[in-house]
Amino acid sequence: MAAITRLSLSDFRNHAAASLAAAPGLVVITGENGAGKTNILEAISLLVPGRGLRGAALSDAARHAGPGGWSVAATLATAAGEVQIGTGTQASAPDRRLVRINGANASAASLGEWLALVWLTPAMDRLFSDSAGARRRFLDRLVLALHPSHGARVNRYDAAMRERSRLLAGDTPADPVWLAGLEADMASHGAAITDARADVVMALAGQAAAAQDGPFARPLIKLSGDDPEDLAARLAKGRARDAAAGRALEGPHRADLIVTHAAKAMPAAHCSTGEQKALLIAIVLAHAALVSQRHGRPPILLLDEIAAHLDAERREALFARLAAMGVQAWATGTDADLFAGANPATHLCLADSQIFPRARAHESL
Ligand SMILES: Nc1ncnc2c1ncn2[C@@H]1O[C@H](COP(=O)(O)OP(=O)(O)OP(=O)(O)O)[C@@H](O)[C@H]1O
Ligand SMILES: [Mg+2]
Repeated sequence: MAAITRLSLSDFRNHAAASLAAAPGLVVITGENGAGKTNILEAISLLVPGRGLRGAALSDAARHAGPGGWSVAATLATAAGEVQIGTGTQASAPDRRLVRINGANASAASLGEWLALVWLTPAMDRLFSDSAGARRRFLDRLVLALHPSHGARVNRYDAAMRERSRLLAGDTPADPVWLAGLEADMASHGAAITDARADVVMALAGQAAAAQDGPFARPLIKLSGDDPEDLAARLAKGRARDAAAGRALEGPHRADLIVTHAAKAMPAAHCSTGEQKALLIAIVLAHAALVSQRHGRPPILLLDEIAAHLDAERREALFARLAAMGVQAWATGTDADLFAGANPATHLCLADSQIFPRARAHESL
């Protein structure tokens, strides 16, 4: 696990060609609305498997006035030395993701072996009142940082499930042997998915339980959803039911992450906006501590507009915790004052589609 020391974007959203250097530790990016701060975090978020922090189509990231393809490249400082990773698309295949690791073509899944990333964005402020799917995606991101094969398993499970639903929706009765094969795939991937999620939820619950009631509300964390035991047999029995519903009604794709504010015994969805944000931060910090324990290095955190909804005491506590854990955290905000007590290792300013180290941006004012 690693820190990003250089980052270059080309034709990525509003950034035609941008390049920056960052130190390990807190990286603060400030700039006015629309300057391209979230886009930088999104570019970093594409350096791990998945669709990044906006969950957007790959082609959406191509700069509108650009040639059609885009790329993001980073230098990672790792225990084993420097590693170059990069990803992007070409104009001729705007929906196909290309990945290079140390100059060689690689699969998107293999990015997870180099980099563990977790993000918090303003859209996630509603995570606890959002759909279970949004919470599952958040949980799976946490799991992926600890179990790099988790993402591929979820994809294979989803593919088998989609194919089964397609067959069940057909006009002619589906081949039962083919269906049974898909159900067996769902059961075996499903068991691995549930095991990995349960491992992370249990470990996080343990971390959170051991923490003091500090400025970040202590969360109680549970995984809900059915046990994947006998899933193949239960799916086989439920074919008519699932055909009528148009989707599988059992399986780990129905799991949910249940979070409660421990001190108040209050479900997270009923907590205030700031309390919900504090619960999310507590989970992400517990996760960073867990990844550190298991892998010897914390994940990189992308904290988009993290200071919004946090009072000064919680902001300072957050920056102090990040510094104590030695996390490389990329934090954005429109207002540099929000990071006044933070003492960032790197402070970048975005203006006129250019990135300046903070001091230079000041001089140019
Ligand atoms: N594919 C694209 N091509 C060109 N520009 C784009 C593309 N996608 C988004 N943009 C533009 O990029 C700009 C910067 O967006 P971004 O979300 O990074 O801003 P921000 O600095 O995070 O602003 P805020 O403080 O409002 O969150 C926006 O004006 C947006 O319209
Ligand atoms: Mg933004």
